[in-house]
Amino acid sequence: MNTRGMKVGILTAGGDCPGLNAAIRGVGKTAMLEYGMRLFGFSSGYSGLIKNEFRELTENQLSGILTLGGTILGSSREKPFKKNKPKNESGVLTKPERIKKNYKNLELDCLVCIGGNGTQKTANLLAEEGLNVIGIPKTIDNDVWGTDISFGFDSALNIATEAIDRLHSTANSHNRTMVIEVMGHHAGWLALYSGLAAGGDLILIPEIPFREEVIISYLTKRHAMKKNYSIVVVAEGISPDKEVPAAKYVGDLITKEAGFETRDTILGYLQRGGTPTPYDRILATRFGAKAAEMIAKREFGKMAALVGQDMTCIPLSEAGSQTRLVDPHNSIVQKARHLGTSFGD
Ligand code: F6P
Repeated sequence: MNTRGMKVGILTAGGDCPGLNAAIRGVGKTAMLEYGMRLFGFSSGYSGLIKNEFRELTENQLSGILTLGGTILGSSREKPFKKNKPKNESGVLTKPERIKKNYKNLELDCLVCIGGNGTQKTANLLAEEGLNVIGIPKTIDNDVWGTDISFGFDSALNIATEAIDRLHSTANSHNRTMVIEVMGHHAGWLALYSGLAAGGDLILIPEIPFREEVIISYLTKRHAMKKNYSIVVVAEGISPDKEVPAAKYVGDLITKEAGFETRDTILGYLQRGGTPTPYDRILATRFGAKAAEMIAKREFGKMAALVGQDMTCIPLSEAGSQTRLVDPHNSIVQKARHLGTSFGD
């Protein structure tokens, strides 16, 4: 099939993460060098597509960005199908209509949407509107349905693990209980993996509802066993009170009910910044190259996905349909329990 001169639009949407530039480069270099396609980058996610803000990217512009954090295209949380007002009488176009118009005027053959759950949902709606769309999964939360792993997760995991490692020594010096909150939105992947990697004693994730009395009795037992400090890793999504950060909620509970000296840390945006790990660079590159291959084969309406060791693709309708959460019975959770780690349940 002739792919020469095909025009490919690309955008990065949702919260940023390490590896976005590696993915842009993966799509662009493969599209240009292997298939002779042209690449047009839209600024700030779906917002650039609505406002028709784009620039053609040359191969030279894709050099030197592999290791860069953030995204050279910018990102936003714009959701063009949300609360979309119907066309008013003066003929102002709705956001999806503007997107379709801009896509058509630029004579795009395909649009590549790099993002998390929300991005894939929107990509699917655009595909249903008749655009040729391909998705690439990214997020530090690792909660995109249909792929075993999204790029960004490994980098965030490394940062969170190092942070928890560092809490051990200061906790030990002061006989304290340290509560650290990591991101993850409604999923507990980052807390589970970083908690295991860094030897957290108690790991609280949204998928395993905790009981306050279990937290207190677990920590009290540790103290009775002369373990003079404890590390509690909490996912941001576990706080029962939306106004109170998870770390503060759990920290206050421990101080009040167990009487232990407690400190809380919220790791925050450090988890999303900076250069991607080698694993994420490779994964993002593979996703990007796969997307370019999918364009060449006209496999539209799908998201690139890693299943086991295989780079494959799944329908966008499936990818955008649900959130990938931790199965409370998964073997990693079971193994952690056998080591004495508590999930507060
Ligand atoms: O989805 C990625 C994520 O980093 C979540 O872990 C976190 O809840 C959220 O984004 C924060 O997003 P924002 O950039 O809107 O503050």
